[in-house]
Amino acid sequence: MPANQIAPFPAVVESLSHDGRGVARVQGKVWFVEGALPGETVIVRPTKTRRSFSLGVADKITVQSKDRTQAPCQYFGTCGGCVLQHLEHSAQLILKGKTLLVALGKVGVSPVGITNPMAAMPWGYRRKARFGVRFVPKKGGILVGFRERNSKHVTPLAECLVIDPSVNSVLPRLPSLLQGMSAPDRFPQVEVAVGDNATALVFQHLEPLTTEDTNRLEQFGRENNLLVYSQSGGPDSIEAIFPRQPVLLNYTLPKFSIVVGFSPTDFIQVNRLVNQALVEMVIDWLDIGPTDSVLDLFCGLGNFSLPTARGAKRVLGVDESSSLISRARDNALHNQISNATFERRDLFRKDLGEWDPGQFSKVIVDPPRSGAIEALNFVSKRVKPRFLAYVSCDPATLARDAACLTNAGAYRLVKLGLADMFPHTTHVESVALFHRIEDTVSDTK
Ligand SMILES: C[S@@+](CC[C@H](N)C(=O)[O-])C[C@H]1O[C@@H](n2cnc3c(N)ncnc32)[C@H](O)[C@@H]1O
Repeated sequence: MPANQIAPFPAVVESLSHDGRGVARVQGKVWFVEGALPGETVIVRPTKTRRSFSLGVADKITVQSKDRTQAPCQYFGTCGGCVLQHLEHSAQLILKGKTLLVALGKVGVSPVGITNPMAAMPWGYRRKARFGVRFVPKKGGILVGFRERNSKHVTPLAECLVIDPSVNSVLPRLPSLLQGMSAPDRFPQVEVAVGDNATALVFQHLEPLTTEDTNRLEQFGRENNLLVYSQSGGPDSIEAIFPRQPVLLNYTLPKFSIVVGFSPTDFIQVNRLVNQALVEMVIDWLDIGPTDSVLDLFCGLGNFSLPTARGAKRVLGVDESSSLISRARDNALHNQISNATFERRDLFRKDLGEWDPGQFSKVIVDPPRSGAIEALNFVSKRVKPRFLAYVSCDPATLARDAACLTNAGAYRLVKLGLADMFPHTTHVESVALFHRIEDTVSDTK
């Protein structure tokens, strides 16, 4: 039956879906209910029906969760950026911990407790973001913001509570800047990247910029104390507009006296303080010492490799991106690190090369959301490290990969930690430590 022919009905919400909707079961059917929290009773207004599940909105909350809070952001409910603002921050962490344990439980990985979450800066934490730009004359012209929930439209933002404050001060000025360009409808995206030394904006454009456009962007950079770039194609097509001579952004890992240089389109961990805690935890859990040779897979700029190299005998960082590998090498040089080398390699291939058993005693793995099944198969069967730390941004692929390590009987999950990298969103960042079974008796840290 079409959604608009079903009258609103009461439902008890059992859990939260991966995208932050309340999950309720009514007469054998699963409903995903926007705006509803676990433990609540709500009146569901159906919005879409499907054979196996249906969608609805919580029109009224009749029994309210004790964890419900007033979302502070004026755009909450429309903007798709952070969908959990109506849940107390402490409850978000409990929920993410449960998500992690449920995912591991489903694939039969023996449970371990989760250590205290690495949490800091629940607001103003984002140092990387991509704002969508739309030209909608009937809404006043240029709109800049994040995508709306469940649609391709953009929520125009005058401020964002999770973005770094340096970006907030220029966000409201972006529409008029773009409106004055020669082809205002040809700028699909503005990417922002915040370093400890500066904030950069990258203006993606589909038509060549005129001299006037470039002058306008340059002036904007000068007036607002920003680095300004243009981008005509992929990440490598960025060109510095202000200043003309590109300035590398950087962030520090103070405990290890490391400065990591990066370009605005490079991957960096979004949350500065949580990243510092995550790096420290991985190095502590791996108990890195001067006899260790460490393999850092999906190493990016060297975020884990460089601080690890401070304490280890040697580190090999591997990543598919040649620009990141080249930047990681530069970063090693600038930090006077001579025991870290970097290699470009596609880690989704099955045969990963000539790494021999015993060559690396410890391995760090930090893959994209799709996980690292190929790399882990190879590493667990061939490299056979004693310890493996897996940094994950997706519980489902972590669980699949953890099962690959543990079900064959080679590894045991010994520690699990949650990193509050993306407060108020449903993203779950975690770290899992595995020990090789034959070594676990003598190695207990
Ligand atoms: C989550 S990021 C981690 C980066 C780094 N460890 C850090 O903390 O900044 C994932 C990394 O995987 C790399 N990557 C993606 N696909 C890959 C592949 N097929 N082979 C190797 N590296 C890949 C990306 O370039 C990116 O640097």
